[in-house]
Amino acid sequence: MQRMSDRIHFLLGETATTAAVEDPTTTVLQWLRARGRTGTKEGCAEGDCGACTVVLGELDGSADAPRLRYRAVNSCIQFLPTLHGRQLLTVEDLAEPGGDLHPTQDAMVAEHGSQCGFCTPGFVMALFALYHDPDLPESPDRAAIDDGLAGNLCRCTGYRPIVAAARRALGGERADRFSRGRERTMEALQAIRAGRMPEIDGFHAPRSVTELVRLYAERPKALLLGGGTDVGLWVTKDHRRLPALIHVGDVADMRDVVDTGDTLDIGAAATYTEILPALDRRFPDFAAMVRRLGAMQVRNAGTMGGNVANGSPIGDSMPPLIALGARVVLNRAGQRREMALEDFYLGYKRTALEEGEFVERLRIPIWAEDRRFGVYKVSKRRDQDISAVCAGFAFSLTEDGRVTAFRAAYGGMAATPKRARAAEAAVEGRPWTLETVAAGMAALARDFEPMTDMRASAEYRASTARNLMMKLYLETTGQIGGPKETRVARHG
Ligand code: FAD
Ligand code: FES
Ligand code: FES
Repeated sequence: MQRMSDRIHFLLGETATTAAVEDPTTTVLQWLRARGRTGTKEGCAEGDCGACTVVLGELDGSADAPRLRYRAVNSCIQFLPTLHGRQLLTVEDLAEPGGDLHPTQDAMVAEHGSQCGFCTPGFVMALFALYHDPDLPESPDRAAIDDGLAGNLCRCTGYRPIVAAARRALGGERADRFSRGRERTMEALQAIRAGRMPEIDGFHAPRSVTELVRLYAERPKALLLGGGTDVGLWVTKDHRRLPALIHVGDVADMRDVVDTGDTLDIGAAATYTEILPALDRRFPDFAAMVRRLGAMQVRNAGTMGGNVANGSPIGDSMPPLIALGARVVLNRAGQRREMALEDFYLGYKRTALEEGEFVERLRIPIWAEDRRFGVYKVSKRRDQDISAVCAGFAFSLTEDGRVTAFRAAYGGMAATPKRARAAEAAVEGRPWTLETVAAGMAALARDFEPMTDMRASAEYRASTARNLMMKLYLETTGQIGGPKETRVARHG
């Protein structure tokens, strides 16, 4: 006899809510709209347009010093059971009970930020998340506003009035009834999380690596779910029926990011947003590239572990990770093994993961000596776009100016993210001169036979790959500007 599924518990606005989960791949958007909360819209159903943006309130921080973070996510690809123990805020929740608009809504009205209004709830929710971002300065600059709104598409109003609304809403002191009710919200969420996890058919949410190990060993055919920014689309776009899901987003000891001084040790379930502060400190160029991966809503949910495990040839994390010499820690039934990330990829979307094995951590070494590091993403748009070519390079120079430990890794050039071994060999041990770089560029033809697809032709990819190596040379020799003057070195 089939067991009845439990209900999940969360806050909808400020109201304690329970929901039965009949199909764990029901999206938050489908659930909201089916129960008449139709303020949240569906545009693309694939995370690209932001019309479905909602805000999730989530406890983080240590048990002694818990914090409540509000983050915008795309409800169209977020599965309903992931709401357990979180607060879901939609555009219907923002106005005061008496009817006064929230400052973000008020600003959109005052600045004429809406015409047809289809995108407006999504923009308001993205603004609301910015309003509650404790790291956002009092009067954020245009770059910070753009960063927060790049995942929201408006087809008719245009962005000038929306940016003006952002400036109006976010300038000055930011306090609303959600900030004032923070303690109460945290207590309510803590109470839910103190209870046992609901048992839901086809959905499991372990809270520790130990629990994950046990659950996955019992169900090796289950599909691991990180932020669902790849998996969500398998449901909404490919209409696939998924096996049982094991959500790793609640595994606390896989969501941490630890800077040991020798390595940046990243839990595979940490979201890009959670990784960024540590990347900013150690690898600022890598951080700048991650800010071009998807948009805020995607980075708030998506994980680097999911990117690496999915193994797409155009995944953006892998070229810089491989260039930096990152290693991946795998865990199967509690047995750990570690390998260089480049050895993890066996073929098109084929990885070294065995049945029942998962990615537990990513480890980026922090070199003792100065390393030059460059990472480049070439896509048709700056934001919210997939790479045609992505490249990561790292090298050191000896005292007499010779290249040592040169590593070059490319995405978009082969069936897997891959090191350019011939190009590396052509450069290694030689002085860092134009002639050496030209030899490296020529050798790329032996490394890759790129293909033509809708993103780029084979010729474009091949010439871009060469030119990126030249760009690295020009930047690291100060002949053109760019962030690549930054060196990766141990500090602190
Ligand atoms: P999920 O979707 O949860 O999982 C992806 C795969 O990894 C699944 O096979 C899952 O089973 C597996 N998995 C997850 N965690 C683990 C684990 N710990 N161990 C083993 N297997 C695991 N990607 C880019 O590279 N660059 C972009 O610019 C980019 N833009 C995007 C824009 C949009 C609008 C969207 C929707 C996606 C975009 N992506 C992009 C793809 C996606 O966001 C990334 O690949 C992301 O890192 C996936 O992480 P996730 O946690 O959401 O993975
Ligand atoms: Fe377009 Fe969700 S509907 S991002
Ligand atoms: Fe029409 Fe933005 S107001 S899409």
